[in-house]
Amino acid sequence: MRKSVKIRVPGTSANCGPGFDCLGVSCTIYNDLELTLLKEPTLEIQAEGEGADSIPTDERNLAWRSIQLLLHRVKADEEYRGAIIRMKNGVPLSRGLGSSAAAIVGALKAANVLLGNPFDRRGLLQIATEIEGHPDNVAPAIYGGFTVSLVHEGVPESFAFLPKLPLKLVIAVPDFHLSTKAARNALPEAVPMKDAVFNVGRAALLVAALAKGNVPFLRHAFDDALHQPYRAKLIPGMYDVFEAARNAGALGVAMSGAGPCIVAYTTNHAATVGDAMVEAFRRHDVSARALALDVDKRGAHIAKE
Ligand code: HSE
Repeated sequence: MRKSVKIRVPGTSANCGPGFDCLGVSCTIYNDLELTLLKEPTLEIQAEGEGADSIPTDERNLAWRSIQLLLHRVKADEEYRGAIIRMKNGVPLSRGLGSSAAAIVGALKAANVLLGNPFDRRGLLQIATEIEGHPDNVAPAIYGGFTVSLVHEGVPESFAFLPKLPLKLVIAVPDFHLSTKAARNALPEAVPMKDAVFNVGRAALLVAALAKGNVPFLRHAFDDALHQPYRAKLIPGMYDVFEAARNAGALGVAMSGAGPCIVAYTTNHAATVGDAMVEAFRRHDVSARALALDVDKRGAHIAKE
């Protein structure tokens, strides 16, 4: 008899300001992926929700390519040569909210469950990081909460923790796409030492202040000098949106991942911060919507029907 499983996986916001390619947080916006593995070489992929029109439904599909890699790793690719994949996507595509990480992690987790869990979460992190290229989105999608990640000699390590304060993530989602590739191409080969020092202090302070729930120390901890200044030209009005969020009461504000979404962190001003960000984008002729999300605490998990 064919077996299926449905996995719910959160969207994620990487970098969190100063933690370029290292920090990430999962948020309460989700993709559902239902997988049935087939012995016959048939591929049926359906997508609905965010970006459904632009998601490939053939061999190029990222979820299917991730499943194939996992099957290969456990030498099950001869036994299972096809799949039925049904996706319901709530995470906007190419906006800096971890849609590719969600596709990869949802697919890997589903295949892993159907094969009897040959990999633990660390094993899934390894495969997901190989596919994505860096761990900062896939780690929070797997573990939930905030994650601090690094890659040592090709092996990713990730430490997950929950913030000790009721943090809201207010995300301004502008009405245009930005590819991670284009945003990474905007970065320099090297950065000045003073900018590296600027970020090291803030990234360390950010993690400590979140873990302790220390609000005053968070006020400058989301700032960045390593990537945002070089990418600002790709997002019209980015620094005005930052300023609007801060003026409306945000503790800190940053590009979400490689953008173009902008994420403001706040404990109690979510609605006014969201409105202010949308209005600031509008002044630059960019239409945007605001999402007020919480930190997801679970990461990818089997969804109950
Ligand atoms: N750390 C990555 C970047 C996240 O900023 O390019 C996007 O995948």
